[in-house]
Amino acid sequence: MLANNITPHHSGVTAASRRKITGSVPAVFWMSGLSGSGKSTIAVQFERRMTEEGCAAFMIDGDTVRTGLCKGLGFSAEDRHENLRRIAYLAKAMASAGLTVVVCTISPDKQSRDTAREIISEAADFYEVYVKASVDVCAARDPKGLYKRAFAGEIANFTGVSAPYEIPENADIVLDTTENTADECAEILVNTALENICKPAVLVRSMLDAAMLASAKIMEIYDGKYDVSFKEDASPLTTADTASNEVLTTYFRERYPEYSILTEEESSAADLHGMPERLSNNAGVFILDPLDGTKEFIHRNGEFCVSIGFAAHNRVYAGVIAVPAKRLLYYAAEGHGSYKISFDELPENVFDPANRIHVSDRTDKLVITASRSHGDKQTEALLDLNADRIADTITAGSCLKGCLIAEGTADIHYRFGSFMKEWDTAAMQIICEEAGGIYTDGAGNKVPANRADPVNHGGFIILNHPESALKLPEITK
Ligand code: ADX
Repeated sequence: MLANNITPHHSGVTAASRRKITGSVPAVFWMSGLSGSGKSTIAVQFERRMTEEGCAAFMIDGDTVRTGLCKGLGFSAEDRHENLRRIAYLAKAMASAGLTVVVCTISPDKQSRDTAREIISEAADFYEVYVKASVDVCAARDPKGLYKRAFAGEIANFTGVSAPYEIPENADIVLDTTENTADECAEILVNTALENICKPAVLVRSMLDAAMLASAKIMEIYDGKYDVSFKEDASPLTTADTASNEVLTTYFRERYPEYSILTEEESSAADLHGMPERLSNNAGVFILDPLDGTKEFIHRNGEFCVSIGFAAHNRVYAGVIAVPAKRLLYYAAEGHGSYKISFDELPENVFDPANRIHVSDRTDKLVITASRSHGDKQTEALLDLNADRIADTITAGSCLKGCLIAEGTADIHYRFGSFMKEWDTAAMQIICEEAGGIYTDGAGNKVPANRADPVNHGGFIILNHPESALKLPEITK
């Protein structure tokens, strides 16, 4: 009987709200391949690795579904089509709930795969994944002993033996399980999925845009008259800080409702632990210092920056540092390298190798960006103790210090004490790391991002190379 008088109901929960919880994006990776090609093995691994990365992923396996939702369907062309149609709706519903879904079914015919794409594309990104292995290879593996029986004529309509398999000619992703292990194939799939969830090129482009908009605002104020007030911790706050913060937060809240924001300007000395929403956001968080180096701004030496970090799952994934007075941009994204460009040369491809920067390979006669002008005793003691290894000391304000190391102009930086907060260092951290450098806390440990307590306790160290590490004076230990 046909179902008439039906009124579908739509959800009132936004995709952005779901994403904050699942950390994932609605996407379906639809694997097709012969029985024994490795689909389920890869899918199990994919599901596990994605979950480890903080992205909720779910696997729908053909054999398993045939014990429930699709129980009673056989292997005629018609039954297979119905099997795959039902699975497509199941996958669509799960993706709509904010999950990244991986489906493993033989899906032997193009028509069924196209139907699945059509159904799922209404709600989620669809990727056809061809798990490639020949009949001979699968028959030799024969994990379930089915090929042996199919060749003996005991199983009718067996795909690849007595029923056809149409090779996906235009698959979005091909995983060749003859050439790669299942683990390697799963890793390729995980990287593709994460790339499509985080879209680093798109994200970095937005962060560059926002940094330049904020820079323009800052320069308007720099060139004119500005007011200076003082924050609770007595550091100067100019109208440029608040104006830049307004530009950045408006920009990111409009375009990325799924991400939270941790910004210096909305976190008072009395409430550093505030903004708890960001701590439970599994999608990601922008970490902003709208005007790093307010003192440099006031002294008009041009060494102030706009610092934008992006972190997810307590790791910094991307960072942009703009130097408004010099019209320079430094930026990086995990696995994509570090770059330097001018405001006037924004490339089509943000990851253009021509603009990459790297740390120097010096491990002696080092250039250090710590400066005696800080006047702190620990830095002085460090410089004295390691005088034989230090060729030069250069001064640079704000997070420019990190940029100088990332581009190889300087080699190391030591900062003692608990004055810096993660918004001062998040962007600088990934820019240095992706340029080949090392960023740690004062004790040499990796630093997690988006912490409940944003203070960088015990300072931080940037090295171009592990061998560039200096001897620490007693006073710092
Ligand atoms: S599909 O063709 O409809 O996509 P599906 O992936 O759900 O197939 O199920 C395939 C699984 O069913 C195989 O991995 C195998 O274990 C089992 N199977 C049983 N009979 C057949 C058959 N005739 N052809 C292929 N697989 C079969």
